[in-house]
Amino acid sequence: MKRIAVMTSGGDSPGMNAAIRAVVRTALEHGVETYGIRQAYAGLMAGDFELLTSVEVSGILQRGGTILQTARNEEFKTPAGQKKGLRRLNEHQIEGLIVIGGNGSLTGALALHKMGIKVIGIPGSIDNDIFGTDMAIGVDSALNIILDSLDRLRDTASSHQRAFVIEVMGRNCGYLALMASILGGAEIVVTPEKPFTMQEIAQALEDAYVRGKSHAIAVLAEGAPYKATELQEFLDKQTNVGFEVRVTILGHIQRGGSPTAFDRLLATRMGVKAVQVLLEGESGKMVGLNGRKMDLIPLEEAVSQLRPISESYFEMARFLSR
Ligand code: F6P
Repeated sequence: MKRIAVMTSGGDSPGMNAAIRAVVRTALEHGVETYGIRQAYAGLMAGDFELLTSVEVSGILQRGGTILQTARNEEFKTPAGQKKGLRRLNEHQIEGLIVIGGNGSLTGALALHKMGIKVIGIPGSIDNDIFGTDMAIGVDSALNIILDSLDRLRDTASSHQRAFVIEVMGRNCGYLALMASILGGAEIVVTPEKPFTMQEIAQALEDAYVRGKSHAIAVLAEGAPYKATELQEFLDKQTNVGFEVRVTILGHIQRGGSPTAFDRLLATRMGVKAVQVLLEGESGKMVGLNGRKMDLIPLEEAVSQLRPISESYFEMARFLSR
């Protein structure tokens, strides 16, 4: 192999740049040049490719977002879009491709593999919903931002004897919400996996009030069955909650900023491994963290299901909040 390409796709996540840098420099170590594809599958279909030299990936390790930019794309889900992408790869004599992204992005990678291009996936999404890896790139950074925000909100909550509802990202998966709840000491957490009713939340807040707490926190995953604002309206009408309620929706703040040391290391290891296995002839696989090891799992398996959250964490969240 003499020429490979790399793209970032779907929602950006902190650490994607560290992965790009690792890909480019590992490829150079093997005498292989790397093209960056701008704006994910949209750029692939449009032929928006640029050669990435060692200098071009210098100074990006600590930067959030992705220097290649990213996009969500409908056209590439169609056979016509995929053929267009394949044609562009052939025109640029690209022999192998590395796709960094979440479930949708890895599904696109699988389609290209089935069309004969050698492809390796790297899991990148703050949601931690990608099956086949203990952690995806960006999860740790997002979680640290959430915890920092939660700690700040608790300061003001306890000064005013208030309860806060904090909505965090994760439309299909409650990993961020659940971890934030355990590590930030929330009273209750609502996730798509365990969607407590609004009545149950009111009860949890009331229990905290009766126990004499100066504040209470409810963490709500974006994929909960109701919005944070609906919950506030409901809680405002309950006379027995005790606390006055305020709502904070963290939104895209969670996706920005410099990657943590954990994410830089994870992204670097994944980028190095992806190039190594691509050059060894592997294709249709995703690199995944398994304990302390970096494994390869079939893309077909990775995109066939969402990563489940261990039941023990839900249990922990329940009894530690008492
Ligand atoms: O998949 C990552 C994620 O941040 C989800 O948690 C969130 O629901 C979604 O992306 C938001 O997407 P967008 O940035 O396109 O609004």
